[in-house]
Amino acid sequence: MRVIIESTPEAASRRAAQMVARLVRQKPVCTLGLATGGTPLKLYGELIRMHQEEGLDFSRVTTFNLDEYVGLPPSHEQSYRYFMQKNLFDHINVDVRNTNVPDGRALDFEKYGERYEQLIEDAGGIELQVLGIGTDGHIAFNEPGSSLGSRTRLKTLAPETVRDNARFFGSEKAVPKLAITMGVGTILESRRCLLLAFGENKAEAIAATVEGPVTAQVTASALQLHREVVVVLDEAAASKL
Ligand code: GLP
Repeated sequence: MRVIIESTPEAASRRAAQMVARLVRQKPVCTLGLATGGTPLKLYGELIRMHQEEGLDFSRVTTFNLDEYVGLPPSHEQSYRYFMQKNLFDHINVDVRNTNVPDGRALDFEKYGERYEQLIEDAGGIELQVLGIGTDGHIAFNEPGSSLGSRTRLKTLAPETVRDNARFFGSEKAVPKLAITMGVGTILESRRCLLLAFGENKAEAIAATVEGPVTAQVTASALQLHREVVVVLDEAAASKL
């Protein structure tokens, strides 16, 4: 794991954006793995700026998102599809047909999970997977206790995650309790991972991820087994290392 510590989330996001941009410039036909949540917002803002001001070209890029809430249609303001459209896809020249976000309205999630995995494989696998981290150390929606070999599947959200995400829904009650998520095993198959974390409330999860034992209780710790992981932090998130 390569850990990069920048003084602010802005500087860290610029650094992360440079890594994504370098890949897209070197390999215009590539597959990116994307994440939602507050953490990657500034990274996406910087990619939009690079597209608008520097002509960064996403026209041949394919994307796969990590996860989606079960039951939310793409038009729901808190769905991850909506999030991606508003915060990235609507502002760059990616072909929306090449953007994939799991469908929270699928009827048979077992079959759907297999199909999503197949789509990733057909696209040649994920070149670079952007990741955030939950305060309990989860990646995507792989909550504590998730198998480190898990694949795309249905997952029940941990109470801590429901609490953390209540800020977007107005109340805990309104947060969906189920999600469809890439598994830890799926994520580990991407060729490179770029984990971002900002703020003091992520410091413990980051310390456990980077310096703790590899454990299903902190699914991000499985990244220690991956050959190419870059962790980009601000000083607050790095404060317990
Ligand atoms: C959710 C998402 C994760 C994300 C996490 C942290 O649980 N499924 O992919 O990393 O939230 O979100 P935030 O960046 O808002 O702290």
